[in-house]
Amino acid sequence: MDISVSPAHSIEGIVKLPGDKSISHRYGILGAVAEGTTTIHNYATGGDCQSTLRCMQALGARVERDGSKVIIHGGKLSEPKEMLDAGNSGSTIRMLSGILAAQPFTSRIMGDESLSRRPMGRIMRPLREMGAVIEGSALEGKEEAQYPPLTIRGQKLHGIDYTLPMASAQVKSCVLMAGLFAEGETIVREPVRTRDHTEIALKGFGADLEVQGKVIRLAPGAKLTGQELMVPGDLSSATFFLVAALLMKESNLLIHHVGLNPTRSALLDFLVGMGASIKVIDVQQSGGELIGDLRVRASKIKGGVIEGALTAALIDEIPALAVLGAASEGGLTVRDASELRVKETDRIAMIETNLKLMGVEIETTPDGFHIPGGQKFHAAKMHSAADHRIAMAFAVAALAADGPCTIGEAEAASVSFPEFYQTLQEIARR
Ligand code: S3P
Repeated sequence: MDISVSPAHSIEGIVKLPGDKSISHRYGILGAVAEGTTTIHNYATGGDCQSTLRCMQALGARVERDGSKVIIHGGKLSEPKEMLDAGNSGSTIRMLSGILAAQPFTSRIMGDESLSRRPMGRIMRPLREMGAVIEGSALEGKEEAQYPPLTIRGQKLHGIDYTLPMASAQVKSCVLMAGLFAEGETIVREPVRTRDHTEIALKGFGADLEVQGKVIRLAPGAKLTGQELMVPGDLSSATFFLVAALLMKESNLLIHHVGLNPTRSALLDFLVGMGASIKVIDVQQSGGELIGDLRVRASKIKGGVIEGALTAALIDEIPALAVLGAASEGGLTVRDASELRVKETDRIAMIETNLKLMGVEIETTPDGFHIPGGQKFHAAKMHSAADHRIAMAFAVAALAADGPCTIGEAEAASVSFPEFYQTLQEIARR
């Protein structure tokens, strides 16, 4: 479905966001393996997190829903009758594989066209080291059979001491999920710190876990028990509105109940460093996660560089930041971001294609790009290639364009934020 977005002159109002996607996945998975009942408030409304719940149901968990409230009756999982479907969700297939590798049954798990092209070798290697029997499928033109669908023959696993070869919270979480059921201690060492929602959630559910800097130790044998949890609003979804408000003169926007976990909130420091007027108000804690309100006002934005550990911390926000970078004074340089090439799409290529369609200059490298500042967005027909974050980032660019724009396969936004276009419509002043 194409969507048409006309220019706006400011962003104003109050926004409430859907629950955080990363946290919802973890609560959904752990709620299903924990003994007893888990009640989750503000569970993410996007398709990805529904895929996780459907998988857990297919594995025997009883799931009740009432809007964004989800109740899971968890415990022992059972053999699924059919192939599990992770849809578009890398988090679902990668984290759940860790659980499945340790169950006393065989399961198969697949994904949609985009997920079927995303690498799974990164989870297969550590899981095999733990004793897992897991096979992937081949992809045309690629030698190794390391793509979905995966066939996982559950085994007794043993803990390992694993150093992650890349910055990936999904791989870290997969190993920890498997470690929950393994014999002996599981240690994961990260090259840079990535989002720690799994560690926080595991502790909350009763796991015996210790974090020292970039080293996580999980002791075996703890019994997980059901919890009552509240999911904070998704800061990655907030990014699109933050960028829109910063881009447009006279904007003034309040975003309620946003997750401010320090492994995610580098975004705010980065934006403030570029000159953004963002105030954090009323910070509270819930289930070990920080939540607060954000007040953002139109600002003069300097340029910026994203590299090293910052790239990992901002990995999902880079499409929206690219849009901001083009309009900033000094432009934006991104390095160390080769992971962007294996997301729902090759996001470096998609950012390049769409910016060029809008008449914006960009130079790309294998692991990043440079966008000179002070550029104008011209009306264009853009492509999302069914990537939710590309669709939303360019809907925001369209607000700042010199005429109405079209975004192809715009419905992709619904995997993380089904209410996105409606919300944008409500806060865009024309
Ligand atoms: C996620 C981790 C990141 C991120 C993804 C969600 C998570 O992926 O891009 O949107 O919930 O753990 P990687 O682990 O592949 O970097």
